[in-house]
Formats: sequence, structure tokens, C-alpha cells
Amino acid sequence: MAIENETTSSQALRIYRDLVEWYPLLTPVGDYAEEAALYRRMFEAHCQRPPRTLLDLGSGGGHNAAHLKKALACTLVDLEPAMLALSRRLNPECEHIQGDMRLVRFGRVFDCVLVHDAVSYMTSRTDLASAIATAFAHTVPGGVAIFQPDFVSETFKPGTETGGSDGNGRGLRYLEWRWVPDSKTDMYVTDMAYLLRDENGAVRVVHDRHFMGLFPRTMWLEVIATAGFEPLVVPFEHSLYSDTGHEVFLGLRPVAD
Ligand SMILES: C[S@@+](CC[C@H](N)C(=O)[O-])C[C@H]1O[C@@H](n2cnc3c(N)ncnc32)[C@H](O)[C@@H]1O
Repeated sequence: MAIENETTSSQALRIYRDLVEWYPLLTPVGDYAEEAALYRRMFEAHCQRPPRTLLDLGSGGGHNAAHLKKALACTLVDLEPAMLALSRRLNPECEHIQGDMRLVRFGRVFDCVLVHDAVSYMTSRTDLASAIATAFAHTVPGGVAIFQPDFVSETFKPGTETGGSDGNGRGLRYLEWRWVPDSKTDMYVTDMAYLLRDENGAVRVVHDRHFMGLFPRTMWLEVIATAGFEPLVVPFEHSLYSDTGHEVFLGLRPVAD
């Protein structure tokens, strides 16, 4: 079976585009408090100076930033204008910039760089290396970058999950189906089915496809080191995901390169 990476297809990435108003019901901001606290502790533990500034590459709805902005001045970057608009509503005090994490250069550095689940959209080693090079270019000497892919090859499990939530008279429920095409080893597909119930009780069903990268742990560490960081991998300690084997990759930028 041939499957192409159709990120321009009308059935791909819809939750970041025409369905963006439903995004907060897919993944509510309150669910990010524990995770954001974990990242904050990692930044504080590894940054060689008091961490004050954060660049979030692929910031989406700004749900991690909503918790981190109390401690860090946040600059949020995303490819999709609709996601930036959503995040601006939640985080009006943060700077928002439209851009591709593989390409952007702002000519300034930050104490902390977060490349959260959006890094999973890097579907080739070249794209991953470009995103990590962007993180390096924006990390101050002595600063820290965090990379949080949803999976590495060693932890990936095909399967399904369900969830969703209600708000403002509307409701969303989803089925998430992760699978690896026969022809591929370095990517997986996440097919999402959303049931969207509007304020009048009318329900529609929408399919949304996401192509995600899948790379071995050693490759992650190699690419992080090649960018110039000292690489480190630490467990993702979270009460809901403790048995998933999820890991966090850190890039520590040496004080002197
Ligand atoms: C699940 S959302 C991120 C949520 C975010 N971690 C948070 O805390 O709310 C994934 C985001 O990655 C963004 N994205 C995908 N590829 C990107 C790229 N090449 N550069 C920048 N953003 C990208 C999408 O537009 C989407 O908003």
C-alpha cells in the first residue's frame, strides 16, 4: 500500500485549521498543568542561569504556555495562523509569531526552548535535524531545550484511544487510531474521528489525518548532539502516563561552544 504524506489534503490537520474552535475541547488547557510543571522543573534543574525566557516552537493552542507564562516570558511560534489566533485569546500577554520550526531565525536567544508534541510532525531525519538546529540557534549558552515527541520507535504501540470534553454548550468526542503503513518504518499515521455536537444538539462526524515521525532513541540523541547540544534523555514522570515508557529529550547548550 502506498501512502503519501498529504499534509495539504483537505482531510489532514483540520483541527489546526477549519476545526480550530473545537481544539480546546479535544485537549483542554487544564489537563496541561502537571506536564507544564514537569517542564518547568526540568528547565530550572538544567539551566545554568535563572530561567526567565521561553521560546515554544509549535506552540499550538498555547496550553503549556498558559501554565509556564507565570514563571517565564513566553514567545510562541506556530505554523498555523488559526492556532496562533486561538493561543492569543488564551495568552494575550505572550508574543506570538507565525513560522515553521524548521526554518525560523529570530536573531535572539532564550534561556529555555520547548519543542513539545509538535516535534512529532517532523517526518524525516532532515526535518527533525532542521527543527533541532532552530532550537539550538535560539538557546542561550548555558540554556536548555526540551524535545517531547509523542513516541520514539521503541515506545510506539499501534492502537486506539477515546476521549473528549464539553464546554459552552458544545461537545466533542474522538476516536484516535494510530497505525504504521506497511511501506514505512520512520512514520505513523494518526487517524482521528471527531463527533462534534453543536449548541443545538446537532452532531456531525469528521475525519482528520495526521502524519507523524517515528525515530529510534539513538537517532534522536545523535541529531541533538550534532546540532551542538549535550543530549540527555529523562523519564516523563506524569501521574497519567507513568507506565507508557514516554521519555523527554533534553539538549543542554554548553556555556562555551
Ligand atoms: C498539538 S499542537 C501543539 C500543542 C502545544 N504543545 C500546546 O502546549 O498547546 C501541534 C501544533 O504543531 C504545529 N506545527 C506542526 N508543524 C509545525 C512546524 N513545522 N512549525 C511550527 N509549528 C508546527 C501545528 O500547527 C499545531 O498547532
